Amino acid sequence: MAKYIISGASSSFGGKVKISGSKNAALPIMAASMLTDEDTILDNVPCLSDTETMLKIIRTTGGIAERDNNNSVHISLSKPKQKKKPDYELYSKLRGSVLIMSPLLAKFGHVKLPLPGGCKIGARPINLHLKGFSAMGAKIKQGHGYVEVTCKDELKGSKIYLDFPSVGATENIMIAATLANGTTIIENAAGEPEIVDLAHFLCEMGADISGAGTDTVVIKGVSRLHKTNHSIIPDRIEAGTFLICSAATGGEIKLEGAEPNHIKPLLAKLGEMGCDYEISDESITLRPNGRPKAVDVKTMPHPGFPTDLQAQIMSLLTVAEGNGMIVETIFENRFSHIPELCRMGAKIKTEGNAAFIEGVQRLSGTCVKATDLRAGAALTVAAIKASGTSEVHDIEHIERGYENFVNKLRSLGVVIDIKD
Ligand code: UD1
Repeated sequence: MAKYIISGASSSFGGKVKISGSKNAALPIMAASMLTDEDTILDNVPCLSDTETMLKIIRTTGGIAERDNNNSVHISLSKPKQKKKPDYELYSKLRGSVLIMSPLLAKFGHVKLPLPGGCKIGARPINLHLKGFSAMGAKIKQGHGYVEVTCKDELKGSKIYLDFPSVGATENIMIAATLANGTTIIENAAGEPEIVDLAHFLCEMGADISGAGTDTVVIKGVSRLHKTNHSIIPDRIEAGTFLICSAATGGEIKLEGAEPNHIKPLLAKLGEMGCDYEISDESITLRPNGRPKAVDVKTMPHPGFPTDLQAQIMSLLTVAEGNGMIVETIFENRFSHIPELCRMGAKIKTEGNAAFIEGVQRLSGTCVKATDLRAGAALTVAAIKASGTSEVHDIEHIERGYENFVNKLRSLGVVIDIKD
């Protein structure tokens, strides 16, 4: 696997950077595009291995899914071509592949997929997705690592309470319910900005959805959806990662094309840590004021602090002044970056889902391994701040979620190379 070579502790970090489209908004919207036979065009889709895998998956189901130029894709699906046993290798590359279930079920009454299984950050079951489909009248069969969902008649609107506000389950149920007979109400729904973008997209296609962004989403089924042209929202996690880099290095940064309302919890924490920020239209400027002060962070469903920025803010706390604490409440195993940060000189202790971080003056560059996407981003932040040269290995994880990362970092003054 490839690695980044980063010369850390440069005093010249800073400048402007354009934020890409959101990976986590693009994936469900790409899946939902399969609801219509007509050619839907999506703009601002980041060019990443995850979005490429999603295009491939759509093609294996019989859909048309192509990238027109860098950030524009077009998708449609008229006739399904479901294999008896869909390719495990392909589906297992991407947790978001589970979102392919709802459009196929809603349109053709049947879908069979490899069970996604766990990953480095936790078990990640799909029981809540299946609970939703089942409440809408679908029959679920599981065996030999596959899940098969069938509904002979059309799906029926239903009231579904989610035991946890799962992002993926809310998205899958919303997509399935758009073409159902009657009204579906999702209670304790997730309210992340990506859910709101999905609802906007579905409504542009002719769906009738209200309440997205709150804990109750109401979907009145319609008989048909049509094509649309939609632009994906900016990536709040990419934006947050660059802001954290700025706070760690002390260099001022201006994010262009970012949505400040989507990163309120991070901006609040950076404010508590002593950074100033300025928001105007679609840009955010962060002005760090010397060494950041330690804070406590607890990850929560939106609008709480996002779990996808937990690893990166931990990198920042390792060099903050004082002692900070992070509690991870969303995923049971999302601390794999800690041993790697400790190899760079960080002082972190853990107890269950809590990490206690004693800030040090300086991290020292060394070889570290990215164990998952956000852990890799956190190690990159740490390597940029650390003294000396660092190697961040297994960067394929990082490149799943950060478009053009190396060039963007170089434009901000980071000395970084890629080696195979
Ligand atoms: C999405 C994001 C991921 C982010 C996460 C939480 C995408 C492609 N990925 O993942 O980057 O970290 O939201 O914001 O958008 N759970 C169940 N049963 C289910 C579904 C989930 O118990 O059926 C649990 C999970 O194990 C986890 C928690 O709910 O502990 C949150 O998971 P969920 O919100 O579903 O995350 P994803 O949609 O997989």
